[in-house]
Formats: sequence, C-alpha cells, structure tokens
Amino acid sequence: MRRPHVTINCAMSVDGKIASPSGKQLRISCEEDIQRMYELRNASDAVLVGINTILSDNPKLTVKKAYVKQPQHPLRIVLDTHCKTPTDALVVTDNAKTLIVVGSACTKHYGSNVEVAVCKQTANGLIDLESFLNMLSQRGIKKLMVEGGSTVIWQFLQKHLVDDMYVYVAPMVIGGTNTPTLAQGDARAPIELSLVNANKLGPGLLLHYRLIP
Ligand SMILES: NC(=O)c1ccc[n+]([C@@H]2O[C@H](COP(=O)([O-])OP(=O)(O)OC[C@H]3O[C@@H](n4cnc5c(N)ncnc54)[C@H](OP(=O)(O)O)[C@@H]3O)[C@@H](O)[C@H]2O)c1
Repeated sequence: MRRPHVTINCAMSVDGKIASPSGKQLRISCEEDIQRMYELRNASDAVLVGINTILSDNPKLTVKKAYVKQPQHPLRIVLDTHCKTPTDALVVTDNAKTLIVVGSACTKHYGSNVEVAVCKQTANGLIDLESFLNMLSQRGIKKLMVEGGSTVIWQFLQKHLVDDMYVYVAPMVIGGTNTPTLAQGDARAPIELSLVNANKLGPGLLLHYRLIP
C-alpha cells in the first residue's frame, strides 16, 4: 500500500489528557511547543483532524505568520463520515484549501476552496484509513501531520499507519474521568513504540517516538 509519511503531533498533561474535562480546548502547549507545532505544520503537505475536534475547538489549522515567516498553508483535512462540518466552521471559511473526507455523498455547499471527497468506510462506520491514505498518495501528498483528537490518533496507531509521534507533556495534571486522553477507542494489543528522543522544552518535555513495526 502506498501512503504518505505520517506524523502524529499532540500535547497532553502528565495524566495523558489532551483537553479540558468538558472536552473543550485547553492551552496545554507552551510557547516553544506552539512554535515547533507551527513549523511542523508548515513542513507538512497536509494536516488532519477528526470531526469532533472541528466541532469542539473550531480550529483554523493554518500556519500563523507570527511563528513562520513564509507560511505554506498545508491542505487541511477533516475525517467526517457524515459531513457534519458546519458551513461556517473556521476550517472552511478562509482562503486555504480544505478536504472533507466523507463516507457517502454530502449535500452541503462549501466555498470553492473546499473539496468533499467520498472514501470507503470500514465495518464500524469510520473512514477506511488505508484507502484514504492511498488516495492522498495519488494526490501527491507525501507528508501528513495528524493532530487529533483521541479517536483519530488511536485509529492511526491501532492500524500501524504512523511513522513518527511527537508528544509534548506539559507540567500539569488535568484529571476528570471522561477527559479526552491521547488515544481512545476499543483496545486490542498494546501498540509498542520506541523512544527516539526526550528533551526538555520550555517548562515541559518533548517526546519523539517511532512505531515498532
Ligand atoms: N491537545 C491536543 O493536541 C489536541 C489536538 C486535537 C484535538 N484535541 C482534543 O481532542 C478531542 C476530540 O477527540 P475525539 O476523540 O472526540 O474526536 P476526533 O478524533 O477529533 O474525531 C473523531 C471522529 O472523526 C470521525 N472519523 C471518521 N473516520 C475516522 C477514522 N478512520 N478514525 C477516527 N475518526 C474518524 C468519526 O466521527 P463520524 O463517525 O461522525 O465521522 C470520529 O468519531 C477534543 O476535546 C479536542 O480538544 C486535543
């Protein structure tokens, strides 16, 4: 199977939480990590999130000029089986390009910078990641950055479709029984990683992992 190089990037607390207990966005990254995140985004051909991240955080997923002098604005991708991306979401209302990947034809109308592509679904109703990544390869996408949330990260890990994973660990504990964690979904065998680097970054720690094939 042909696929792009896949890099997961995520920020979490010491107890593995990636958002506030209500699931809303919380500033977990330090300034140095935000700088690194924008540089990684800018060096990628595409950045990806799941629909729940769009609905909870309403991110733009662009590259800010304050962090990168000449932003390239990678293609923004939303995995959105049932085409729930609102027509006024920030990810579809500016000039950068967006690809919404759905499971069946969508009747919503987005701007001219937005493409809606139908992709094969798995038995559990999610977008089939192997078919999706193959589609990206055919479009010339070589470097894909996966930004979350928990479900998306888990699906990529579980299917071993990840090359590199960067996790910023902030010196905070968020708590909460249902607070989203780094990876969530039906668990099978543990996914083994090898640690490439662990460096102090600002007040926290940046961990770089690779997947053990
Ligand atoms: N700290 C960080 O770095 C960071 C970064 C991003 C997000 N977050 C947080 O993550 C949380 C959201 O995570 P989440 O787990 O609820 O949702 P998510 O991962 O953002 O989106 C998951 C949804 O995407 C759709 N999807 C379609 N195909 C999929 C596939 N193959 N694999 C996975 N998902 C697929 C499914 O919805 P449909 O069936 O409806 O299509 C699925 O329920 C928010 O609280 C957000 O703040 C944190």
